[in-house]
Amino acid sequence: MKLLVTGGAGFIGSHVVRRLVNNYPKYEIYNLDALTYAGNLENLRDIESASNYSFIKGDINDMDFINSLFTKYKFDGVIHLAAESHVDRSITDPLAFVRTNIIGTVNLLNAAKIIWKDNFDGKRFYHVSTDEVYGSLGQTGLFTESTSYDPNSPYSASKASSDHFVRAYGETYGLPYVITNCSNNYGPHHFPEKLIPLFINNIIQEKPLPVYGDGNYTRDWLFVEDHARAIDLVFHKGKNAETYNIGGFNEWKNIDLVKLLCKIMDAKLGRNNGQSEALITYVKDRPGHDLRYAIDASKINKELGWKPSVTFEEGLEKTIVWFLKNKEWLDNVTSGTYQTYYQNQYK
Ligand code: NAD
Ligand code: TYD
Repeated sequence: MKLLVTGGAGFIGSHVVRRLVNNYPKYEIYNLDALTYAGNLENLRDIESASNYSFIKGDINDMDFINSLFTKYKFDGVIHLAAESHVDRSITDPLAFVRTNIIGTVNLLNAAKIIWKDNFDGKRFYHVSTDEVYGSLGQTGLFTESTSYDPNSPYSASKASSDHFVRAYGETYGLPYVITNCSNNYGPHHFPEKLIPLFINNIIQEKPLPVYGDGNYTRDWLFVEDHARAIDLVFHKGKNAETYNIGGFNEWKNIDLVKLLCKIMDAKLGRNNGQSEALITYVKDRPGHDLRYAIDASKINKELGWKPSVTFEEGLEKTIVWFLKNKEWLDNVTSGTYQTYYQNQYK
């Protein structure tokens, strides 16, 4: 099995690559990543010299390069995670999301279709997507696999579009595919532009914690290693041309999550209880902010037996401990261009 993983130097991708490299010694695993601000080979130091692993630096937007890569390696499978992934950045620069998330995905689909030449036996294109394609829920209800797409941000619109292209390649050309739509992930190596790692970093530095709007927005959080395990399972056992929702059965209002984070961090850092909570600062809301995401993950549970393996308390504890132990990683990714991003976003 020659397996291409795209975006393997990013947050979720690095957990997926590590799992595959460790679990499948007979596979050849190729990690293709452009190393944008979000890609970091430090995330993979522990497995980089494994004999079944190779890193390829490259951009999925470069059609000629992608075609030549597929011709050279003749991959049997693709697990596609490379993307622009942050909603706030999509509001500032939507075209970057159109390029990577839509055009980049179509470049990969096309290259796979060409080399597989309509003989699709044993081949699979796995597209990793998000629950944000379904738009926003009200106070009740859950997203199922048959919920209509209703994206609200340029990020979710670009992911919705890429999902549609994957399905279209399945329907039109018979390309074997599977898609998963997952809820918010958290864990080690999470880039500190997203809520949990950004707030962990700010608490360490005793900087304000910028809560958007009234903080009453709800997300369903899943520990990243549980997502990586689901991806491994769906890649190997999921049914062709199906979609599976993946979620943590773990809804939190942002403000409650932030208060819990503050409490754990105060204890870990030997600070007085309440010290970090005092850093909470309500700031201007995100435009088009989705009120609530919540996943019904019963299909993957019933069909493939997957469910989250860690509770939120355990996952959060592991995450905080990792960030406190890996100050150098955090310092490296928050130097340089991160500072410019931070100034512009939170000015
Ligand atoms: P990330 O931003 O941490 O990583 C993205 C990776 O893709 C980086 O390594 C980056 O260098 C690479 N990349 C970006 N543009 C590229 C290009 N043009 N060519 C090649 N590589 C490129 O993202 P993440 O949080 O790990 O998310 C991975 C995937 O999972 C994305 O498709 C995202 O939509 C999806 N997803 C994320 C979450 C979440 O909570 N983070 C939830 C559900 C689904
Ligand atoms: P985020 O981690 O960006 O994920 P997503 O928008 O893809 O769900 O944000 C999670 C929630 O936290 C979302 O409701 C926006 C909110 N948020 C803040 O309140 N402040 C922040 O600085 C950030 C980054 C997010």
